[in-house]
Amino acid sequence: MSVADSDRQLSVIILHGPNLNLLGLREPGIYGVSTLAQIDARAIEVGKSLDVVVTPMQSNHEGVLVDAIHAARDRHDGIVINAGAYTHTSISIRDAIAAVQMPTVEVHLSNIYKRETFRHHSYLAPIVIGQISGFGAYSYELGLQALIDHLRSSTAVPS
Ligand code: DQA
Repeated sequence: MSVADSDRQLSVIILHGPNLNLLGLREPGIYGVSTLAQIDARAIEVGKSLDVVVTPMQSNHEGVLVDAIHAARDRHDGIVINAGAYTHTSISIRDAIAAVQMPTVEVHLSNIYKRETFRHHSYLAPIVIGQISGFGAYSYELGLQALIDHLRSSTAVPS
């Protein structure tokens, strides 16, 4: 959707990749104790406070994430994505984001640069607005705020 088209509410999709459905249980020393439901509820609340509709979605399947990115084009103004391990492997997800040309922020709970070297490379980093990594569940909130700020400032009419 084009933000400049109307005065309607902004809409953002938050995409979570594989294994993030297990947050809360999964390696809590690395990923924290917040569940995905808690992270999503907080993101929706932050969205409401900023007058933005936030729609979260999680999938363990690469093709489902690619389909969701394609569908986002007609439904949302921007994407916050934690692609999980697909960050480090998926050219398809990178190409999907590049194809839809939607403003996208990449987020990670853990600081991927402090971890194993295979996590240091992100296929998404070169085609997103920016990346937030290492703030636990708060990374999502920071990513959402940064995306909303970007969407609003890039459509602001200069005075
Ligand atoms: C992650 C980091 C990835 O390396 C890992 O595969 C994940 C989660 C994070 O949020 O810190 O699944 O994206």
